[in-house]
Amino acid sequence: MADEQTRTTTLASLRAGKKAGRKFSVLTCYDAATARLMEAAGVEVLLVGDTAGEVVLGLPSTRQVPVEFQLAITAAVRRGAPHSFVMADLPYLCRVDDHQTTIQWCRRFQTETGCDAVKIEVAGQDADLIAAVHRAGVPVVAHLGLLPQMIESVQGYRAQGRQAADALRLIEDARRLAEAGADMLLLEAVASEVARQITADTELPVIGCVSGPHCDGTVVVLHDMIGWGGGHPPRAVKQYAGLSEVLSEAFARYVADVQAGQFPTEQDAIHMKEGEYEKLTAALGQVSHS
Ligand code: KIV
Repeated sequence: MADEQTRTTTLASLRAGKKAGRKFSVLTCYDAATARLMEAAGVEVLLVGDTAGEVVLGLPSTRQVPVEFQLAITAAVRRGAPHSFVMADLPYLCRVDDHQTTIQWCRRFQTETGCDAVKIEVAGQDADLIAAVHRAGVPVVAHLGLLPQMIESVQGYRAQGRQAADALRLIEDARRLAEAGADMLLLEAVASEVARQITADTELPVIGCVSGPHCDGTVVVLHDMIGWGGGHPPRAVKQYAGLSEVLSEAFARYVADVQAGQFPTEQDAIHMKEGEYEKLTAALGQVSHS
């Protein structure tokens, strides 16, 4: 694993990029092989999202993601992309009322996975948690707007900030969280006008997720953008590949080849060393005659 000195993207470079008006790309990533490809393609930030619970584990929501699983895949992404900025999602199960325990989880993510920041789903009233994580020396990304971890209890899947009062609350929440010590903000499903205001208000890099074109960075869920898994991606996600079709066709050809005896063939096989088969048959002959 490369150390922090060899990162091509850091919090400082993202801040400098914002000042210079440069946009950056963020993709969710859940394994080392995909991380390797993303790093080679120049994706600046890899988010090990708790959407892994849905798209990798097939769970009904992000709430049930096992913490040890999230730790393991974050470490895998770090190994696959040693030079990129890796952001770990803090699972719902790490969110307990006492900040000290949440901070200990954040530290475990930082030390055991080598991630560069931990993302936490929050609202303005969680500013003290963000402040505590910041004081503990863990770079922290405040995720606001639509909070998938809270969907069952409060929000439902709905866009945020479409009415002035809601928009004002979000803008105020973003200010409080930035002041509390957040290192980045992530806005999910926030109205474009509100995302633009929040992005303009702060020097922090702001990542948008289905939040329009005005944020500094943009994140989408990998499976949505490569058309993999048969889910229903949000309307605003542009699809760059149709992996479900590619994979389905490959699986069907494999099944047909195996059933027809076209794979594996002798050409695909491992063979005994020269002269060893003859020795084997002689030995088998001796055994069967004795
Ligand atoms: O878990 C995740 O993939 C996320 C993105 C949707 C922002 O938090």
